[in-house]
Amino acid sequence: MKKPVRVAVTGAAGSISRALLFRIAAGDMFGKDQPVYLQLIEVPQAIDALRGIAMELEDCAYPLMHSISLHDNPDSGFSSAHYAILIGARPRAQGMERSDLLTANAEIFSVQGQAINRYANPDVRVLVVGNPANTNALIACSNAPDLSPTQFSALTRLDHNRAVGILSSKKSCNPQDIRKVIIWGNHSPTMYPDLHHAMMHGNPVMPQIDTEWYRNSYIPRIQKRGAEIIQVCGHSSTSSAAQAIIDHMHDWVHGTRQNDYVSMSVMSDGSYDVEKGIFFSYPVRCNYGRYQIINGLTLNDLSRDYFKITEQELLEERDAIRHLIPTDFLQNLESYGSQTTNNNVPGHYLGPRKINDRI
Ligand code: NAD
Ligand code: LMR
Repeated sequence: MKKPVRVAVTGAAGSISRALLFRIAAGDMFGKDQPVYLQLIEVPQAIDALRGIAMELEDCAYPLMHSISLHDNPDSGFSSAHYAILIGARPRAQGMERSDLLTANAEIFSVQGQAINRYANPDVRVLVVGNPANTNALIACSNAPDLSPTQFSALTRLDHNRAVGILSSKKSCNPQDIRKVIIWGNHSPTMYPDLHHAMMHGNPVMPQIDTEWYRNSYIPRIQKRGAEIIQVCGHSSTSSAAQAIIDHMHDWVHGTRQNDYVSMSVMSDGSYDVEKGIFFSYPVRCNYGRYQIINGLTLNDLSRDYFKITEQELLEERDAIRHLIPTDFLQNLESYGSQTTNNNVPGHYLGPRKINDRI
């Protein structure tokens, strides 16, 4: 039997976690041979509710469930964690944009970044889910100076899965027949779902779809799917968010399937001329527990236009929370990625290194 991995989850009594934790315990995230130690983190007021979830997890007697601990503070909660999934944050209500949560949630992620830096396993992998996820990931990452930005990511796999699912419904095929869909940019209505490189049944997607439908129906549908769910269900996505978290972590740890990309929001290293120092959703491939940004894809004028809008939004979000980013962080990033310009070479995966190691 393998040694258990420690998985810290914040917002552990919330809606997404209720759908997620049982699946982590069942082995859906890290594999059917990997025992897990769940370190569940909540605000003090939610600890009683969390106790109930822990009891149910125990009562499932999952073969891989090594132990569970409950925490009302991030310092003990992240202690020695190999994986940290940061869900705990306010969700938006109807009529709000995710960026409206910026000030409400930002503080949480600076405190948690510091705790992860101090107490987590030095090789920890962090996924930020709480919105606005990209900028919260930047806050957490910038407050963890001893860790590499490559250890942090934000969730755009939900948008990626939506892009696959909605296309497969339209074309009456199975999601597994669709490959190389890309979500570029922010987890917000400015994201760009790009099908120009996508394949269906081994053939390019674009000649198989109506351009008018793609531009005027498909792209806005994916961009606004989160709001559509809130409108129809009365609350933001839960099961699909949990599935996306499983997929994101599973692929990061176990690798991307052959002949495909997945979308992950990661620290921009300047790829595709995106400014360094924002978490931008890119097409990546993962292997050896690391990710590699897919470089060298051609972008048409439509794509370039979308790119600029979503990049600009991320820069504006960064400006709004600049007081939470330590002053030297962005300066140090100037040389970030200088060792990654060759990263289209197979086997060159961005692994954990401190920013200062790159200078
Ligand atoms: P929820 O309100 O049901 O649960 C949030 C939980 O976080 C609550 O139990 C709350 O007590 C806890 N929490 C708040 N502050 C905390 C802190 N400092 N430490 C630990 N726990 C804390 O919300 P939810 O539906 O589970 O959604 C959580 C977040 O995920 C929201 O911000 C939502 O917008 C976001 N989200 C992101 C995506 C994505 O694709 N990136 C998808 C769905 C939801
Ligand atoms: C989603 O995309 O479903 C989540 O980010 C929740 C939201 O506010 O849209």
